[in-house]
Amino acid sequence: MQISPSILSADFANLQSELDAISNADWAHVDVMDNHFVPNLTLGLPVVEALLKVSPIPIDCHLMIEDPDRWAPAFAEAGAQSVTFHVEAARDPRTLARTLRSAGARAGLAIKPGTPWAPYADLLPDLDMVLVMTVEPGFGGQSFMADQMSKVAEVRAAVARHGGEVWIQVDGGVSATTIEQCAEAGADVFVAGSAVYGADSAATAIDELRALATK
Ligand code: DX5
Ligand code: ZN
Repeated sequence: MQISPSILSADFANLQSELDAISNADWAHVDVMDNHFVPNLTLGLPVVEALLKVSPIPIDCHLMIEDPDRWAPAFAEAGAQSVTFHVEAARDPRTLARTLRSAGARAGLAIKPGTPWAPYADLLPDLDMVLVMTVEPGFGGQSFMADQMSKVAEVRAAVARHGGEVWIQVDGGVSATTIEQCAEAGADVFVAGSAVYGADSAATAIDELRALATK
């Protein structure tokens, strides 16, 4: 069970101290948005490079961008320990996943709520993580989509059949009230933005989420 707070809900003027505030988490989830794949614009490679220099924990990049085949490898080459791209945007997901791994990153494949999992199950040998979105990507603070739990269970079953170690991440609306159903469905990496940075103490919120996910 791993917790990956999303810095999308952090204070962008103080990202170094915002990373220090979540140093008891397993990962720092960094949402890269290009205003094309999603209707929002956040940050790009230069900021990720700067975060990598100061982060006390590994960086989990979630790329919500067009043409990840072209742009995602640079994030792995910069040293991001995990790089996740969207299958809806990728031309050749298998080759891209292999490229990310050979650059030293864990390779993640993200799927939007309306995208089925089954057509991509044969990519599992080339993946380290599958991200099942539990909101439409683009913004923090949205409501959790419980109807995605069947997809989490479907991915978990496929991972069990495959036999390898592939993590299943959920992202969007994950909080103390929704994390247990995610864990029950088979997720093992939990992204939480507003539930962590909106709390009085980010560190305490992380500990509470971890305890609930491990129950
Ligand atoms: C949304 C992002 C999420 C977002 C989650 O597109 O991918 O990582 O920060 O925020 P919360 O946890 O507030 O739903
Ligand atoms: Zn995200």
